[in-house]
Amino acid sequence: MEKVTHALNRGFSFGTPTELEVLFAKTITHLVPSIEKLRLVSSGTEAVMSVIRLARGYTNKRYIIKFNGCYHGHSDSLLVKAGSGLATLNNPSSSGVLPEFTQNTLVLEYNSITDLNEAFDKYGNDIACIILEPFAGNMNLVRPSPEFLAKIQTLCLEFGALLIFDEVMTGFRVDLHCAQGLLGITPDLTTFGKVIGGGMPLAAFGGRAEIMDYLADLVKKGVPPTEPKERTGELTPPGIYFNASLNTT
Ligand SMILES: Cc1ncc(COP(=O)(O)O)c(C=O)c1O
Repeated sequence: MEKVTHALNRGFSFGTPTELEVLFAKTITHLVPSIEKLRLVSSGTEAVMSVIRLARGYTNKRYIIKFNGCYHGHSDSLLVKAGSGLATLNNPSSSGVLPEFTQNTLVLEYNSITDLNEAFDKYGNDIACIILEPFAGNMNLVRPSPEFLAKIQTLCLEFGALLIFDEVMTGFRVDLHCAQGLLGITPDLTTFGKVIGGGMPLAAFGGRAEIMDYLADLVKKGVPPTEPKERTGELTPPGIYFNASLNTT
């Protein structure tokens, strides 16, 4: 509390990155080697929304794959439950979400290699990414089978889809190096939230430099927010968040 109060007295809204922010990012990149570059946002929902848009922009592909029972925040295209197989359209899982918003989300059964094969047989060249909870905490705790993870990695490589680990729940909880450290897998992109804020509304996404640079280049070139690509917020999170985070044990 002392460090948080100290940071609060120095201001809580800045237009440029701060020293604490850099220290925070360096701590994460040090602990999680797949994170070569990182961007900060305010919630897990926002982090997931951002990586999905980035994956689609970077790959120039349409579909995203998620798994039944995994929760990735409340953005429209992820509030979806499986139809009966890939033959039918998936259904929004919340009122207020139009079917048009979920029609490019393929929902497969967690740990199903058959579903993965079927999805890639049908849509393989137009799949931008696979997003999953590496340990599915939102359906109590389902572990991925080694075969399932291996299949995902092979298909992503073969078809040029990005592998996204949603570590909003697992990140820095299951292990200091996150679920990916325990599983020995290097995803292309990762999302973090919850515990990384040490009680403050802080979240982040990051991954391979080449992909993250796709965002950075756009910002450098001054692409206006109306461009159909990614752009993040204009104010940096305050020092109280980073002090809360870095002093959480
Ligand atoms: C795995 C996972 N991803 C994303 C989210 C969304 O995070 P937030 O509630 O910060 O928007 C949650 C929230 O429970 C989550 O468990």
